[in-house]
Amino acid sequence: MIEEIAHRAPGFKPKVAVLLGSGLGSFVEEVKTIAAIPYAELQGFPKPTVRGHEGRLVLGHVGATPVAVLQGRAHYYEFGRTDEMRVPVEAMAELGCETLLQTNAAGSLRLDMPPGSLMVITDHINFTGVNPLFGLGAKRRFVDMVDAYDPALVQRLMAAAKAESIRCHDGIYIWFCGPSFETPAEIRAAVTLGADAVGMSTAPETILARHAGLRVAAVSVLTNYAAGLVPGAIGHDQTITVANASSGQLRLLLRRFLESYG
Ligand code: HPA
Repeated sequence: MIEEIAHRAPGFKPKVAVLLGSGLGSFVEEVKTIAAIPYAELQGFPKPTVRGHEGRLVLGHVGATPVAVLQGRAHYYEFGRTDEMRVPVEAMAELGCETLLQTNAAGSLRLDMPPGSLMVITDHINFTGVNPLFGLGAKRRFVDMVDAYDPALVQRLMAAAKAESIRCHDGIYIWFCGPSFETPAEIRAAVTLGADAVGMSTAPETILARHAGLRVAAVSVLTNYAAGLVPGAIGHDQTITVANASSGQLRLLLRRFLESYG
């Protein structure tokens, strides 16, 4: 599979891998594309089943920075496997990427972060009871998760947001398995635990990326207030609609960050 990628983009060595979440795939329009390969043509890559996840690897440049964009992810809830993104994440490390920059759509646990806001993730909580490194064998299984979301990259994302005059929060992301949304009681518990945003992805990929030796950065687009924070129901339609509507700001932020990546 690495050979297949090398064959499509001979000599290309990406520095940053960018993983695009629900409704956020349009960032690829910022990439001066060298090659675009459907996941279906890459052995071991998942077949995303969620609307808003294209399932393509796009290789190219943002400014002078060579990037590999994973346009769409598979989630634990789709196949019941937490390591669904292991092959793509490890492929990014093998291709020479040093950083995995993730995006996702998430629910807000804070009234001062309304739908449409951006939040740079500073840490995560995984109380799901599962882990993508289950069963991997003894080699480097005890991965350190201190500063898993690289503090220097957090600062650079915040600086990029400021330079683009984008109001950007920072905070802690809690991973829930889904696919049902959380109950209001679960969200109250998550607030008590110290979470600022909730979602169904990202934490497993961060663990896999740290295991593969990649630095990690991540940005959430907050598409709704989490269950029970305000009256009313929550649905995936809103996730897609608000993510699409906010993708312009996210694009500016990621472009600025990547152009100045160095
Ligand atoms: N909960 C979990 N995942 C989500 C949410 C939410 O409220 N919004 C977008 N993704």
